[in-house]
Amino acid sequence: MENTAEAATGAAHDSPKPRLHAVRHERAEVIPERLAVVTGGNKGIGLEVCRQLALQGVTVILTARDERRGKDAADSLRSESKLPNLIFHQLDVRCDTSVTSLAQYIESRYGKLDILVNNAAISGIVADEEGLKALNIDAETWTSGRAANLLKEVFQNTYDEAFNCLNTNYYGCKRVTEALLPLLKLSTSGARIVNCSSLASELKRMPNEKLRNDLCNINIWDEDRIEAVLKTFLEDLKNGRLEEAGWPMMLPTYSVSKMVINLYTRIMARRYPEMRINCVRPGFVKTDLCWNLGVLTPEQGARGPVMLALLPDDGPTGCYFDQTEMVKVW
Ligand SMILES: NC(=O)c1ccc[n+]([C@@H]2O[C@H](COP(=O)([O-])OP(=O)(O)OC[C@H]3O[C@@H](n4cnc5c(N)ncnc54)[C@H](OP(=O)(O)O)[C@@H]3O)[C@@H](O)[C@H]2O)c1
Repeated sequence: MENTAEAATGAAHDSPKPRLHAVRHERAEVIPERLAVVTGGNKGIGLEVCRQLALQGVTVILTARDERRGKDAADSLRSESKLPNLIFHQLDVRCDTSVTSLAQYIESRYGKLDILVNNAAISGIVADEEGLKALNIDAETWTSGRAANLLKEVFQNTYDEAFNCLNTNYYGCKRVTEALLPLLKLSTSGARIVNCSSLASELKRMPNEKLRNDLCNINIWDEDRIEAVLKTFLEDLKNGRLEEAGWPMMLPTYSVSKMVINLYTRIMARRYPEMRINCVRPGFVKTDLCWNLGVLTPEQGARGPVMLALLPDDGPTGCYFDQTEMVKVW
């Protein structure tokens, strides 16, 4: 696909709906009471979400874009944590064919899905990792957003990385959610969708006042409007106008991708009131995504997503959580 803002917006529209009956897999002998899919499950928080859900008796499909990394992760969880209820399936959230293949697999084998954890993400930055280490930024400076100026020295905000980031963090989440929705609608235990968000998504981080106010008003948003905003963002990036146009300057693309994840969560929660659909900030966790600068363990970071994946039927929906606490950010 052509690497332009238009292609980024088209990335969502062009996704064909999966043809759920095209490939048959053997039916599972026992259909699990609760079946979960976790995206980006081969490491970091996603791997821990898989482990914690499987420990709670959920049958987990650990997915990863790389077959080898995913299989190795699933094998070690199965053996070290003694979790036979863990299955691997390849899933690249940027690839329509891969998403369709997962939907077909679940449809033929299980005929339903109960939990979807949209965890896969990238930073949208080309980082000079040695330079970053040398800056020795403490967690407080990082999470407050005050590090933005310092980071200009070591972070490159390239158009290609920004494009990939939006295509993974937002369009990837949307692509997977849309493909698996028909199966979530057939959930026997009550469908749950958990979208991984971030502190970077919070509206106090958005300098552009008009957009900040708009982001508070869910009534004006749908997927088309989100795409239009992302297209403007990419255009401003291409034209070197991010700061002037009032976009967040600490990890700009990542922040914007998570702001729209929050919107998408609220849109979907309104559209499917019978499901519990929420987004969560896992905390500042020591993983590759944040160059291992975080202070929490992946085990701690997974607690919020896992709690939301296991919400009772009368639990909240359309809400934002800071780890396990519901907070008002819009
Ligand atoms: N760590 C934090 O402090 C922090 C803070 C706020 C929010 N979060 C959110 O928490 C979630 C997990 O992040 P993490 O910290 O655990 O990061 P991580 O360790 O870097 O893991 C990210 C995962 O996403 C996968 N991924 C990337 N692109 C993908 C694609 N196209 N298709 C499928 N999988 C893909 C990665 O696979 P590969 O191994 O193949 O790259 C990896 O498994 C993310 O949504 C992140 O935004 C993290």
